[in-house]
Amino acid sequence: MNKNPAIPAGDLDHLSIAVPDLKAAAEFYRDTFGCEVSDPIDLPERNMRIVYVTLANTKIELMEPTDSSSTLAKFIERNPDGGLHHICLTTPDVDIAAEQATAEKLRVIGKGTSHHGRALFFLHPKDALGTLIEIEEEN
Ligand code: CO
Repeated sequence: MNKNPAIPAGDLDHLSIAVPDLKAAAEFYRDTFGCEVSDPIDLPERNMRIVYVTLANTKIELMEPTDSSSTLAKFIERNPDGGLHHICLTTPDVDIAAEQATAEKLRVIGKGTSHHGRALFFLHPKDALGTLIEIEEEN
């Protein structure tokens, strides 16, 4: 194990799935798996609406685009049934992690703040085995 990783990971904060129909997706997780699903949260600045599915050890974020020109809408165009969009890992200090990732030639994209006020960035999927990875600061 690397004792000095660029982005020391804590937990899997959430998995995020893009869906074409949030209400149907929420019902699927409620009815099929008996999961607790939050009320919808509107994120107009991100052109999406989300719910959280609660599991014992993590959560699943279901995201529905609310604007046909957003990148999420384009994702749904390519994946009309929906699909895994990103995973989110926590790290103790997002700024240090972003600096160290950049130093390791990993492309840091979308650095900002989550809708619940936590610092975050994404690693470009081409630098992360084809998966978009969100890095969020631990609580
Ligand atoms: Co996320």
